[in-house]
Amino acid sequence: MSDADRERWDARYRSGLLTQTPAAVLTANHHLLPAGGRALDLACGLGANARVLAAAGLDTHAWDVSPVAVGQLDAHAAAAGLTVHSAVRDVLLAPPPPASFDVIVVARFLDRALCPALAAALRPGGLLFYETFTRLARGGPTNPDWSLAESELLALFAGLAVRFHRDDWDTGDPALGLRGFAQFVGQRPHAAETRR
Ligand SMILES: C[S@@+](CC[C@H](N)C(=O)[O-])C[C@H]1O[C@@H](n2cnc3c(N)ncnc32)[C@H](O)[C@@H]1O
Repeated sequence: MSDADRERWDARYRSGLLTQTPAAVLTANHHLLPAGGRALDLACGLGANARVLAAAGLDTHAWDVSPVAVGQLDAHAAAAGLTVHSAVRDVLLAPPPPASFDVIVVARFLDRALCPALAAALRPGGLLFYETFTRLARGGPTNPDWSLAESELLALFAGLAVRFHRDDWDTGDPALGLRGFAQFVGQRPHAAETRR
């Protein structure tokens, strides 16, 4: 990311106008979380998802390119009495290493080139919780590079077993349902059992 783009994010966080609500895909599927392990909130912003993961007892890491966001995340986590290992990190330049996390959460962030590295960063049995804008989102990104085509998360993470998927797209009553967001929970297959 360029310095100018990072400064734009910093300015948004300094404005205090950005929300910090956990992703619905995480709260609705909280029961899928493992009892322990290593978790990552990627492109975490203010870390609302990281706090959910830490409160669930996971060894939680949170990375974002904006130092302002990470500073605010640290303050929120401390105020909540939670330990979150935060880092200022450009996840495109330094993606998570292979087989390094049991849970990865991505909310309202999309870079298609990163998706294979995200799937590979899961340990066997690990879970990816993903929620972001579709092309039909009102007030979402205008650049199609940053929003999803119909059911695209299924294609981007075809190597993962689907545990949850929702994309209402333009079906039925547009005033109802989940409009403008797609949600996905995928699981990396467990390593095959060794046969005698
Ligand atoms: C719309 S916000 C979403 C924040 C958070 N995930 C949430 O749902 O509240 C997108 C975030 O992605 C971060 N971001 C953008 N590009 C990034 C990159 N290359 N590496 C790390 N973080 C990045 C921004 O700083 C911003 O905090």
